[in-house]
Amino acid sequence: MKILVTGGAGYIGSHTCVEAIKAGHEVVVFDNLSNSSPESLNRVEKITGVRPRLIEADLLDRAAVKAAFDEQKYDAVIHFAGLKAVGESVAKPWMYYNNNLVSSLVLFDEMRAHGVFDLVFSSSATVYGDPDKVPLAEDAPLSALNPYGRTKLWIEDMLRDISAADPRWHIILLRYFNPVGAHESGLIGEDPGGIPNNLMPYITQVAVGKLKELTVFGNDYPTRDGTCIRDYIHVCDLAEGHISALNAIDKMPGCIPINLGTGDGFTVLELVHAFEKATGKPLPHKIGPRRPGDSPASYADASRAEKLLGWKTKRGVNEICRDAWNWQSKNPNGYK
Ligand code: NAD
Ligand code: UFG
Repeated sequence: MKILVTGGAGYIGSHTCVEAIKAGHEVVVFDNLSNSSPESLNRVEKITGVRPRLIEADLLDRAAVKAAFDEQKYDAVIHFAGLKAVGESVAKPWMYYNNNLVSSLVLFDEMRAHGVFDLVFSSSATVYGDPDKVPLAEDAPLSALNPYGRTKLWIEDMLRDISAADPRWHIILLRYFNPVGAHESGLIGEDPGGIPNNLMPYITQVAVGKLKELTVFGNDYPTRDGTCIRDYIHVCDLAEGHISALNAIDKMPGCIPINLGTGDGFTVLELVHAFEKATGKPLPHKIGPRRPGDSPASYADASRAEKLLGWKTKRGVNEICRDAWNWQSKNPNGYK
């Protein structure tokens, strides 16, 4: 298939480009590089031997989006592009609504105008809000806790309406749980700018000596050790999930949400100890106050992905920690 990958230079996008090329697809990346480096695509070439073409442009630039579709006929689009920092979305909601919502509308409209109706969208477990029961199945109630989450929920709503109005659409909403880890080569991985907000990049930056110690946000939650539970999924498993979605999309009309998670939850302290075990490095950490907005537990019921896509995760927490550390230790300053 010929696939347009928006946000393909980013963390999940670059890993998905690798898997797509390995599966024999042709990928073209559409990315404004606002949160990524073109070096990620050089690395994709090193891994696969194929350099994905980069259209360096903003999805808010309708003329550039139209030009991309005028140039060639795509079989499908994978839409990763977007801003994703929860705290920043609270401080600058207009930026999130503009960059994530308006750009998506431009993309979907140009897809329709060019007769491209197969779409895989990067949604998130954040659409389950603060869940009252786990594991989370796709029919759990939806809500948003912040502007970032609201953009995911509203794009999902937009896509449900779009597909209800026109039966030609085949849309898969992939709801990611917590993507972590890196390609086993250590050539591509997560490269957050500044001090990381998320747990795994914080852990690896402590381990490499860039940060002093990890603060565990709260140990008084109603969980087995008092720290929050999340479903950490290896980014290569996640990337393979997109390829399984592309393989299945032809026989999936409408708009279907599918969780991509392992189905298993780990506490923050369990992840810290797994990291220490996998890398042989002690990880300095202390307990701090809770972070506002965190739910005690979130993990997937991953059965729909297996049933509809024939996909399930292959990698466990050891591979996650090993590969995250391999990437961080080989690239202490990311792609710089
Ligand atoms: P990322 O920031 O590494 O990648 C996003 C890419 O989109 C970047 O390369 C950025 O330059 C590009 N981009 C942003 N706005 C753009 C625009 N207007 N036009 C063109 N390109 C633009 O993020 P990621 O972690 O790879 O996440 C990819 C997608 O998955 C995002 O939609 C994110 O919300 C979603 N997601 C991520 C996580 C996570 O924890 N990483 C969890 C759930 C969902
Ligand atoms: N945590 C710490 N210390 C840190 C960072 C995180 O203890 O320095 C804890 C958090 O309190 C939480 C867990 O580690 O309990 C995971 O936190 P992350 O920030 O890594 O991930 P979240 O589950 O909060 O959110 C992530 C993405 C969201 C996405 C969500 C579901 O950041 O964008 O997963 O996919 F919506």
